[in-house]
Parts: sequence; C-alpha cells; structure tokens
Amino acid sequence: MNFLAIETSCDETAVAILQDVSTNGRPAFRVLANLVASQDDIHQKFGGIVPELASRRHIETLPVLVPKALAQAGLSMADIAGLGVTREPGLMPALWVGVSYAKGLSLATQVPLVGVNHLAGHLAAVFLQDAEHPAMTLPWPHLSLIVSGGHTELFLGERGGYRHLAATLDDAAGEAFDKVAKMLGLGYPGGREIEKLARTFAPGTLADLPFKLPVPKFKNGKVAFSFSGLKTAVSLLIQKNPNIEKNAVAFAFQETVLNILAQGLEQAIAVYRPKALIFAGGVAANSRLRQGLAEICQKRGLSLLVPPMAWCTDNAAMIGAAGLLKWRAASRRIKKDKDGLRLKAQPQMDFSKQALREDFFPGVGVNARQKKK
Ligand code: KG4
Ligand code: ZN
Repeated sequence: MNFLAIETSCDETAVAILQDVSTNGRPAFRVLANLVASQDDIHQKFGGIVPELASRRHIETLPVLVPKALAQAGLSMADIAGLGVTREPGLMPALWVGVSYAKGLSLATQVPLVGVNHLAGHLAAVFLQDAEHPAMTLPWPHLSLIVSGGHTELFLGERGGYRHLAATLDDAAGEAFDKVAKMLGLGYPGGREIEKLARTFAPGTLADLPFKLPVPKFKNGKVAFSFSGLKTAVSLLIQKNPNIEKNAVAFAFQETVLNILAQGLEQAIAVYRPKALIFAGGVAANSRLRQGLAEICQKRGLSLLVPPMAWCTDNAAMIGAAGLLKWRAASRRIKKDKDGLRLKAQPQMDFSKQALREDFFPGVGVNARQKKK
C-alpha cells in the first residue's frame, strides 16, 4: 500500500510518499518521494523561528508540494490508501496548518487519516529504505535518544511498551547549538555551521584548550541532561575573550555536548542494560556526535541505529514511517472511526503510557508479541 505523509510542526514544510514493503512482520517502508521545503530564508534574519511566518509559509507551500510528491512517485491520490500528519509536539500555528490541510484532503478524497507524534517519527526513520539504505532491524530492549531543536529526550523501549526516562532540564541540545552559533556570528540553523567550524580545529582535543566548559553533574546517578549552563559558559567565555578563536569555541562546545549526552547515556545503559541505541532527531545529523556515540555503543556491546543524515532533520518520510506503523497496528479502527477528522494539534507531547503505546512502535518487536497475547 502507498501512504502520504505531511509534516509542518516547525519550520520545514514536508510531504512524502511511502510504499509499505514490510516482510514477515519486519517493518520496511520504501521512500517513493520525500520533499522538504526549508524556510531558512525567512527565519535566518531573526536568528530563530517566527511561528506566524512559519505557518504562513506552510499554507503557501503545502498545496504545491502534495501534487509534486505524487508526480515524483508516479501516483495519483487514487493510489494512496492512507494519510498521516504530525499532530504533536510542535509550534501550534504551524501544526494547525498541516492538520487542517490533511483533514481537508482526507475529507475530499475519503482516504483515512492518522495523527503522528513527531518524536515517534524521528525514531521510525530507522525503518525507511531507498536504493542506498536498507531498513534496519530493531532489537529490544533499546534506548532511544532524540536530540532536536526543541527536545532532548531519552526513552526505554522494553517489554511493557515505551517509557520516558529523561529529558533536558532546560534548553534542548539543538537550541544550544543554534544559540552558540548566533553568539559566534554563524548562520541559522546553527548546528551544521558549528559542526563545520569545529572541524577546522581538528585534530585538537579538549585538553589542548586553555579553557574548560562545564558538564553538569546529577546526584545519585540520576539520568538527565542540561545545556543552559554550557550555553552561559560559552557566552561568558566569548565576552571575556573577544579575540578567542571561534573554531576552538565551536570545537569545545560540540565536544562538551557529546560529553553531556554520553554521561546521561552511560548512566542509563548501566541501569537498563539495553541491546541497542537509536540516536535520532536533527542533531543526530552531526558526524562527530554520531561517531562519539558509536564508540560508547561499541564499548558497551550495543548496536547503534542512526537514520541516514537526510532522514535525521525534519522530513515527512519519517512521519510516514510512524504513521504506517500506527496504520498497520490499527487500520480497521482508523478507517471505521474516521479518526483523523477528530484530530487535534497539540503543542506539548503526551507522555502517558497509553499515548506512548499508541505512537511509539505499535505492533513492532516486543510490542507486537504483547498485542497477540
Ligand atoms: O529535528 P529537527 O530538524 O527539528 C526539530 O524537531 O527541532 O532539529 C533541528 C535542530 C536544529 O537545532 C539544528 O541546529 C540541529 O537540529 N542540527 C544540527 C545539525 N544539523 C541540524 N545540530 C548539530 N549538528 C548538525 N550537523
Ligand atoms: Zn524534529
């Protein structure tokens, strides 16, 4: 079956079409079209996302992208069996555009619609495939680290379903990347720019530097993340040393983000003994962080699942993957209840056990075995 997905939770307007090519209960979704219209041009001059401008651009772009994606896949709406749209979490005015457009499309074409959690989408990207990338096999139990512009969340996927373990206590890691990039006079979004600049400091180490950036410590082995102290430390460092080498700052910042993520992960690995780690979200496009977490996983005997770079930053293919998982687990109910027409956008994520069971890998691995009982 073919599935069309829409993503407008933040500043990317995205539409994708997937074909379900799962075999023997192993999810695999072939990407037939994956269009992402970036809004960097409008938000760049503000150094951050302006929700009102983001939603206006989504309204203009969606009606162009949907027919374009269909044409690229060589399909028409008559070939589409299901629709998916991001309904949470995200910027409210931006989410509303995608949700309203998807409801209209569903009503006009009678194709049932399913609401998708954006973070579940980041994780479900491991099941996407194209000519160069096969879909991955997901071991259980596993940890899922989602690091993006708005989130730094750690989940445990185990018997009994998905469980939220930890989050940032303040800023998200991607937000810290963007703010530090702004302090260094780099462009927006800042993550990629910091990574590029940090590379020019290589082959350096933190020990080579005449300054130190803080890694927050948590009492009693608590698993948590925090980036606002690091952000403030970088700001003070730049203020006190106006001639400091920017690439040394970018390098030190990136290494410290890695150390903060690694510290939280090591704690969680010691307690929960997972078989694998999924590293996803826009910040997972960072090669140095991918490499650093790969080293930890190798040392601790975990397999590491990281989506290809292009599927880490926001896109609709990942929303299609999470939507298709929900569809496969409950398509009869979705069609019968006309679920999608009652969808509501939500700015915050619902972390309840019930919501996590419905959104995070329903019908896959341990979750599938449970369903059969
Ligand atoms: O997942 P995403 O595309 O959007 C949200 O859901 O927030 O993540 C965007 C974030 C931005 O903060 C951006 O600076 C960061 O991902 N990012 C990176 C890299 N590419 C994007 N951060 C570090 N290194 C990168 N290469
Ligand atoms: Zn995202």
